[in-house]
Amino acid sequence: MSNEDKNVQKTIINWYPGHMSKAKRMMQEDIKLIDVVIELLDARIPYSSRNPDIDNLAKNKSRVIILNKADMADKNVTAMWKSYYESLGILVCTTNSKSGNGIKAVNDIIREACKEKIERDRKRGILNRPVRAMICGIPNVGKSTFINSFAGKACTKTGNKPGVTKGKQWIRLNKNVELLDTPGILWPKFEDPDVGLHLAFVGSIRDEILNVTELSINLIKLLNNYYPDAINERYNIELEDDTVKILQLIAEKRGCKLKGNVLDLDKASTLLLDDFRNSKLGEISLERPSL
Ligand code: G4P
Repeated sequence: MSNEDKNVQKTIINWYPGHMSKAKRMMQEDIKLIDVVIELLDARIPYSSRNPDIDNLAKNKSRVIILNKADMADKNVTAMWKSYYESLGILVCTTNSKSGNGIKAVNDIIREACKEKIERDRKRGILNRPVRAMICGIPNVGKSTFINSFAGKACTKTGNKPGVTKGKQWIRLNKNVELLDTPGILWPKFEDPDVGLHLAFVGSIRDEILNVTELSINLIKLLNNYYPDAINERYNIELEDDTVKILQLIAEKRGCKLKGNVLDLDKASTLLLDDFRNSKLGEISLERPSL
């Protein structure tokens, strides 16, 4: 790792702990109230967008993983991730919460994940008690968008339930599922510097605290590895091994200049990151499962 890479890593790690403990405490409380944990991951980074604390937090709960923003990710790679998480015994579906694609399947998957609880209830003579679900995930993964899309127009807010769920809002999705209105925010976790970088690429960490040029050079490295045509198709430049040179070529092509005709690499970097985040470079997955 270069010294600059180490600097990027250091900035990210210093930024993390304060928010984490509060968010985690809130989730620990909320999780007690629910039957099934729906974990939203960013389909472009299904490893880095997953906080490993969830395994502990959601112990003894039914589990569902949703690979959200699937419209932005490489479909073949998303299928690999789906198989991977299914091989760990977790039910998985893929969604585009913005368009609503894939949302319908979520209801069935929740029922499937909770089938033992439903069966237990049935044996005890409890019929049609809705399962209680909670959405959780890191910031910007699409929790609010997902809840809006999943809950749709047909749902009703059930309000507080004295004694049991004090202060909590539930959304009655249908006769089978109730959803906790407040999503569980899991702060990302990254001892591994690549995880921090990947979170920054997709915009789950604010740019102001990062060096954008360093970030975009790292993104170019990754794109060169997995999607060698993505950059030259977008910017019409010849492929290069030298990643800094690629950034300079992007700056030239897009007229990113400072006074005195000096290339403005920060501007070119922001442009590249924005293009990636807006899917202008195509459907891209930055991580593969190690099967
Ligand atoms: P959060 O609650 O987890 O923090 O995330 P939120 O729902 O606010 O979503 C973060 C951004 O991701 C929003 O974009 C949202 O539209 C977008 N998003 C969520 N799910 C999907 C998806 O499946 N596909 C795509 N392509 N985008 C998704 P934004 O730019 O912040 O807002 P907006 O301009 O879209 O309103």
